[in-house]
Amino acid sequence: MEGIVVLGATGSIGVSTLAVLEQHPDRYKVIGLGGHRNIDLLARQIRAFAPCQVAVAEGYAEPLKRLIEDVASPPEIFEGGSGQVRLARHPQADRIVAAVVGAAGIEPVIAGLRNGKTVALANKESLVMAGALLIDLARQHSARLLPIDSEHNAVFQSLGDENPADVDHITLTASGGPFRTRPLSEFKDIALEDALRHPNWAMGPKITVDSATMMNKCLEIIEARWLFDMPPEKIKVVVHPQSVIHSLVTFKDGSTLCQMGVPDMRIPIAYCLGFPQRIASGCPHLDLTALGQLTFEVPDQRRFPALGMAYEILALGGGAPAALNGANEELVSLFLKGSIHFTRISSVLRHLVNHLKHLKTTAKAGDHSFLLCLRQLEDAFRADAWGRSFVTEQIARNDHRRPDPFLMG
Ligand SMILES: NC(=O)c1ccc[n+]([C@@H]2O[C@H](COP(=O)([O-])OP(=O)(O)OC[C@H]3O[C@@H](n4cnc5c(N)ncnc54)[C@H](OP(=O)(O)O)[C@@H]3O)[C@@H](O)[C@H]2O)c1
Repeated sequence: MEGIVVLGATGSIGVSTLAVLEQHPDRYKVIGLGGHRNIDLLARQIRAFAPCQVAVAEGYAEPLKRLIEDVASPPEIFEGGSGQVRLARHPQADRIVAAVVGAAGIEPVIAGLRNGKTVALANKESLVMAGALLIDLARQHSARLLPIDSEHNAVFQSLGDENPADVDHITLTASGGPFRTRPLSEFKDIALEDALRHPNWAMGPKITVDSATMMNKCLEIIEARWLFDMPPEKIKVVVHPQSVIHSLVTFKDGSTLCQMGVPDMRIPIAYCLGFPQRIASGCPHLDLTALGQLTFEVPDQRRFPALGMAYEILALGGGAPAALNGANEELVSLFLKGSIHFTRISSVLRHLVNHLKHLKTTAKAGDHSFLLCLRQLEDAFRADAWGRSFVTEQIARNDHRRPDPFLMG
């Protein structure tokens, strides 16, 4: 039996992970479940999987205990970020599924890597914040990072045992999200419910909004840069509205390999749980004749300004990706609360990238050296906090409930 810890168990990826695990009761034992505030769902998961440890947000342990007081062998319950870290370090945990959303997910990922675990990573934000440091940590501790993100999982599968020197470039596919064909002149009318209506994938709210701005693809370019040690100029993006080809690798002989499948995260999750073997995911198999055709488009940079920022931010290096990620999290959270217009997410991020460039070219970083050079994890946290306060300052200055005129036709 392999011991599994699922962090972010109550989210979209967490629930899909448990759906795969429950098909393989003879192969996996769930050791730990990390939730945050959704303790009703967590209580049901505790009954179904009988973990020995769980973690919840501060103040949620007592209410959870009350929900499971009739459970014969209740788990130990920890609160806060340190609880997630304890789960990730559990000696019987062989694989950690890291599916917390946002920067909050980085500490348990670090703990898993430091303890030599296999980390199945959905939490792309941790690689964006501190990719080089995490890859080094994995190497130092003989830990393994397996990508759950469907695009990176597809690249990982397509690379197989090929010689990295034979790779010419990789192509990440993007669905284009809900606004792929919406006229730019109508961007001013985008409402929260429009942005939350993804055409192909059912996901948590943060990544759904990131898909609508294409900030998700920006984060994925940065993620791919570190996961595959790929120079940014060798990472391309193509819009593929059907989300059936999950990404491609082109080799120097002109061969292109890809991974295909129905758009369902249980497939990459099953791959990461079974690796190096394959296990059933419970997903239907692809029926190409039913699909009829697959289409591809060049991404529209005007519509999706966040896409190009990936290359600019990678060129800046240091804590710049962590600052961008922190700022984006803050902006998405404001958008989800109805405090800013959809178009303001990209425009504030644009300001942030310009400001970072200014700091670098004028060598005015001074006290902000962590933005330009990432020496330790602490620098990534400082850059994240800087990105968040940049947003707060910008929002205080203008009325961001109105659409940004520059992002419309
Ligand atoms: N969903 C997808 O299809 C998909 C695909 C590729 C990559 N990803 C990545 O996977 C990660 C999770 O995405 P998701 O869509 O599953 O998100 P989600 O549905 O919003 O779930 C987020 C999970 O994180 C927990 N959480 C939130 N804040 C936390 C905190 N401060 N500390 C600890 N746990 C916290 C939530 O707990 P509560 O709900 O209990 O509060 C929930 O379990 C993201 O990094 C995303 O980019 C997702």
